[in-house]
Amino acid sequence: MNKRVSTGPIDLTIPNHVAIVMDGNGRWAQQRFMPRVAGHKKGVDALRRVIKLCSARGVKVLTVFAFSSENWARPADEVAYLMELLTFVLRREVPKMVADGVQLHVVGERAHLSDRIKQALARSEQATAHCERLVLNVCFNYGGRWDMVQAAQQLALANQPITEEALGQKLALAHVPDPDLMIRTGGEQRLSNFLMWQCAYSEMFFSEVLWPDFDAAHFDAALQAYASRERRFGTLPDAVGSTASVAGPSTV
Ligand code: IPE
Ligand code: IPE
Ligand code: MG
Repeated sequence: MNKRVSTGPIDLTIPNHVAIVMDGNGRWAQQRFMPRVAGHKKGVDALRRVIKLCSARGVKVLTVFAFSSENWARPADEVAYLMELLTFVLRREVPKMVADGVQLHVVGERAHLSDRIKQALARSEQATAHCERLVLNVCFNYGGRWDMVQAAQQLALANQPITEEALGQKLALAHVPDPDLMIRTGGEQRLSNFLMWQCAYSEMFFSEVLWPDFDAAHFDAALQAYASRERRFGTLPDAVGSTASVAGPSTV
């Protein structure tokens, strides 16, 4: 847990960390005979809504997938729009994030972003670094495979042994615990190279709703589904565990 995030009494039915694949923007626009990018613009409103809901419901960390390593393969004008949208939205939203206590981290490979975007990201992160209510990780030019490779490269360069713990500490989300709940909107049921390491034990919730339409009722439905899940992390349910036989591996 990020030390700067205040922790009050913990309600175990509320996920501490929610991760979202914000999918369906293009289809939302196409259904309205609008250009795909109009869906991305509208998607920002949905993100703003969900940030506020996280704070209101007691979620401490929100991680969203905004641009994947593979999204460079889209038409150049859509890619250019998404690059501009990020800096435009940050310029407009950072003062509001500060007011709402949102600590921003932009997570992903920055090497191939322009200097102007890199500077804008660094400035936005610095401006919100003292905020404590909600950690917002925006995964931009992010891929789970990139993340694991860059972490392993850091360990190799430092001549450090590769252990699960050491690798975890070099991953791009090392400043927060793993997601408890992973939501994907837009009807697809896949990870698309999102947090492949970190979602090892996340509860998954797939929604048919296109991201720009995702509202409080949809978010609460995901929280409700999460609250009804039994997380076992490879163990047995309590009732079964208490009556388990004492047979050990030698008798298997
Ligand atoms: C998700 O919406 C946003 C990004 C990938 C940037 P899409 O643009 O993938 O929308 P659909 O899936 O084509 O509807
Ligand atoms: C995943 O959505 C990436 C983001 C939401 C940013 P995509 O629309 O790129 O995923 P695929 O191509 O359907 O798997
Ligand atoms: Mg999509």
